[in-house]
Amino acid sequence: MAKMAASMVAESGEDVFKKMFKFYKRREPPPDLREVTDFGSGATAGGKIVPLKLDPGAVSDEEAAGVGLQPVRDWRVFGLQGYPGFIFISNPFLRGSQAFWVRQCLKTYPQKPNVCNLDMHMSPCDTQDIWARSVEAIRSPLSVKRQPKTLLERLRWVTLGYHYNWDTKTYSANSYTPFPADLHMLSFRITAACGFPGFNSEAAILNYYRSDSSLGIHVDESELDHSRPLLSLSFGQSAIFLLGGPHRQDPPTAMFMHSGDVMVMSGPSRLLYHAVPRILPAPPQRASLLEEPSCVLALQMGGVLEPVSEEDWDVCSKYIQNSRVNMTVRQVLGPGQTLPEKPPLALQKDNEVVECHNNGNNGKRKRSCSDPVETVET
Ligand code: OGA
Ligand code: MN
Repeated sequence: MAKMAASMVAESGEDVFKKMFKFYKRREPPPDLREVTDFGSGATAGGKIVPLKLDPGAVSDEEAAGVGLQPVRDWRVFGLQGYPGFIFISNPFLRGSQAFWVRQCLKTYPQKPNVCNLDMHMSPCDTQDIWARSVEAIRSPLSVKRQPKTLLERLRWVTLGYHYNWDTKTYSANSYTPFPADLHMLSFRITAACGFPGFNSEAAILNYYRSDSSLGIHVDESELDHSRPLLSLSFGQSAIFLLGGPHRQDPPTAMFMHSGDVMVMSGPSRLLYHAVPRILPAPPQRASLLEEPSCVLALQMGGVLEPVSEEDWDVCSKYIQNSRVNMTVRQVLGPGQTLPEKPPLALQKDNEVVECHNNGNNGKRKRSCSDPVETVET
């Protein structure tokens, strides 16, 4: 990796991170993936994997099972040399339980009062039942390419809790809706196991990636309390994740994120630059976990999980055959901290109003760092 990075920087003025991003984003010829660290298979490749031991007493087996997780002592947890505070958990989910979280991402979390990209250029009555308006077309056999795309297929992001304002890159006290209790419970358990008791899930960004989506180089710094970890959960197809340094130009480490994988960015790793240049087909072992019927889930009830009906799972499994969903859960506020209120629309500067409702780009939102569709780094 170091060699690759050095030669990359020598060739042009462009920084290494940008070069790596373009390298992995490239279609023809397909990039060489041998330098990509795979925590799941233990292939160290470009980054040095360090096995980590979590305190198995921090979360009981019952608490873990209640959110669909294996007992903490069975989790395969890793750090990465040179990235203190970065924790990678290779699919800690119980067999069958990913189906519940996928269903929440596709059917439940896009519902009002949560906010999604489609709200930026459609009326609330048109975006109020994305799932119901999409399922029939998604269920139908796709022998012929369907036109036009369903709302679910056009979904790119959903925000929960404090709704991230993509234009101002801020959260506001008055742009808040209740954070889903089940997702908070999952986040609370995982962060507690990682040594961060008392995590408050206050905001989440859900990104929906198609096979040609990417997410540009950015750092998540809009939260007021950076001492709290950032939690990232991935489902569906795999991705290449680039983890850089505190400066945009620092050379990144490339790693795979497969379905069920969990990342915690904490401490000195909380504010590192990162990006997703590429979505890749899930490796056979992970894909098979997603293909099995969701009825397996009925085995461990009692917590927040609910069984996923066969009809729902049929749609979810078709959707994730060529998509990836990532949730990043954030605590925004530390003790005693408060967010400012967003001024009423009438008092906002002209350009802010214009950007929100009609940015002169055919109703499409401006490019922004966390939009997997429109943030193509060039
Ligand atoms: C984000 C983010 C990474 C991913 O939403 O801020 O970095 O894996 N997502 O999709
Ligand atoms: Mn991010």
